[in-house]
Amino acid sequence: MPFEQDIHRLREFLKDDVRMRTDFENTHQNQGIPMPPVEKPIPEGALVVPLPDWKGLPLTATLDALIAARRSRRRYTDAPVSAKELSFLLWATQGVRENRPGRVLRTVPSAGNRHSAETYLALTQPVRDGEGQTLFTPGIWRYLPLEHALTYLHCPDDLNQRVSAAALDQGFVGRAPLTFLWTSIPYRTEWRYAQASHKVIALDAGHICQNLYLACGAISCGTCAVAAYDQPAADALVQVDGQEEFVIYMAPVGKVTP
Ligand SMILES: Cc1cc2nc3c(=O)[nH]c(=O)nc-3n(C[C@H](O)[C@H](O)[C@H](O)COP(=O)(O)O)c2cc1C
Repeated sequence: MPFEQDIHRLREFLKDDVRMRTDFENTHQNQGIPMPPVEKPIPEGALVVPLPDWKGLPLTATLDALIAARRSRRRYTDAPVSAKELSFLLWATQGVRENRPGRVLRTVPSAGNRHSAETYLALTQPVRDGEGQTLFTPGIWRYLPLEHALTYLHCPDDLNQRVSAAALDQGFVGRAPLTFLWTSIPYRTEWRYAQASHKVIALDAGHICQNLYLACGAISCGTCAVAAYDQPAADALVQVDGQEEFVIYMAPVGKVTP
């Protein structure tokens, strides 16, 4: 396809013309098909580790100061990110603020409250509690927003290298003690919005990452949004099929100097 034509076709993604040709009367929701689960099931026998309560964490700045200071950070110190701090970051990005039957509301907005995202963490260093005890060993973990816990998935031998390769060898990602990988399960949104789902899924991801930037700022951590990544390598790292669920965004996190 010639370049100009390709660009014009791709620009359509940013517009909302798709709404006009979407048959909202016949969405899966309106056909009475049950709502997809708000959280992926926990694999049978999987290790589930509750996250500690983050309340009481000293936050370093007021919201206006955090917004004013927000920037992408690609250099991290050797200081570890604690389990309480990780708990705070997960709450800020995908935490549940209200759980009513059929309506789970979170700390970030989402079109139609569909929340197609799942959060995976690549921990290249152990995450410890205040007493120095390891709560989360290195490996790939998935966040369980309903339980505010992490479930362990696997740990490849060459984890650092795999994380770095998933981010197209952007060196700072491989050097971070932990990296968020957000996937989308598009059907959660398609169930209600059919063809009008995909732009709003991308918009949803922006809100998640912005909360990560601000929450990191509050606890002397830094992050950098990463949208340039190797799709098959990232999907393989978090063990998703690349069709019904795939990585859409990444963000390494580490401690930073002010
Ligand atoms: C959607 C998105 C994708 C990005 N992808 C990358 C990336 O792959 N690698 C990178 O180093 N920075 C990435 N960034 C960070 C931008 O380069 C950064 O936000 C920009 O240079 C402005 O700097 P600031 O965030 O410090 O204000 C991305 C930012 C956004 C919002």
